[in-house]
Amino acid sequence: MKKEAPARNDRTPSGIPGFDELIQGGFPKKSSTLICGGPGTGKTIFSMEYVVNGALKYGEKGLYVTFEQRIEDLEKQASQFKWDLNKLQKSGMVEIMYVPVTKIDANLIEKIKEKVIKNKIKRLVVDSLTTLVINAPIYQRNSDLSIKEIIGENIMFSPPIIGDYIFRRFLYGFIEELRSLDCTVLLLGEADQSGENISRDSLSEFACDGVVVISFESMGGDYSRSLIVRKMRSTKNNGDTHSFDINDRGIVIKKIK
Ligand SMILES: Nc1ncnc2c1ncn2[C@@H]1O[C@H](COP(=O)(O)OP(=O)(O)OP(=O)(O)O)[C@@H](O)[C@H]1O
Ligand SMILES: [Mg+2]
Repeated sequence: MKKEAPARNDRTPSGIPGFDELIQGGFPKKSSTLICGGPGTGKTIFSMEYVVNGALKYGEKGLYVTFEQRIEDLEKQASQFKWDLNKLQKSGMVEIMYVPVTKIDANLIEKIKEKVIKNKIKRLVVDSLTTLVINAPIYQRNSDLSIKEIIGENIMFSPPIIGDYIFRRFLYGFIEELRSLDCTVLLLGEADQSGENISRDSLSEFACDGVVVISFESMGGDYSRSLIVRKMRSTKNNGDTHSFDINDRGIVIKKIK
């Protein structure tokens, strides 16, 4: 793969053909962007391409944390696009950390942070934030929570208030922790199928610095893929709907005629 010209130094380019020009050259450095969509929309392929391009085109190390797919499954998926994850892992440019849902615990965030700092990771993907926020808050220590803080002025004390509070606190806390790292993060999220909110948890879109929504529609045997950059802090983003294809080299955003 050919080396690209250096990008603006406040940006982390995805290297995905046609995408970076929608966001002034790339994701703002050290930002966290939610890549949100329904099942099979291309979230994993998009994020894998971001990490692979980082290694091959920009000389940046990437860490792909997944709760969804085993390493060999990701390698197989990537090989369809001629991305040799095995080789990239051996060279130390890409790391894949597979954590089965049953192994998500209170130390996970620290483990991710340690890896990022120690190995000078510049691109981090969490696949998916939805799975993490559903599972991780369970492991928060009770001592992290102040009952007074939870119920505030609420006279009526009820368990759903606590559940919602723990969830919010975890989500915002996690994204805040990522801000302290010198790397640019993509967080994958499940879309809200009702269409009322962007993400299934209805909070991730507020907590993240950027939001890219990916869609897949099929009608009468025909189908179309598209994406919208819904938000990108410190960026004049192009908010149009952009069609894209997945071809044998990955994602290609089509030019608007
Ligand atoms: N080689 C390929 N060429 C074209 N399209 C492909 C190719 N490989 C996969 N796809 C398409 O990409 C989709 C899978 O993309 P991906 O795994 O990135 O989705 P996802 O949004 O991560 O899904 P999930 O939420 O289930 O994890 C497949 O359903 C298929 O439609
Ligand atoms: Mg996926």
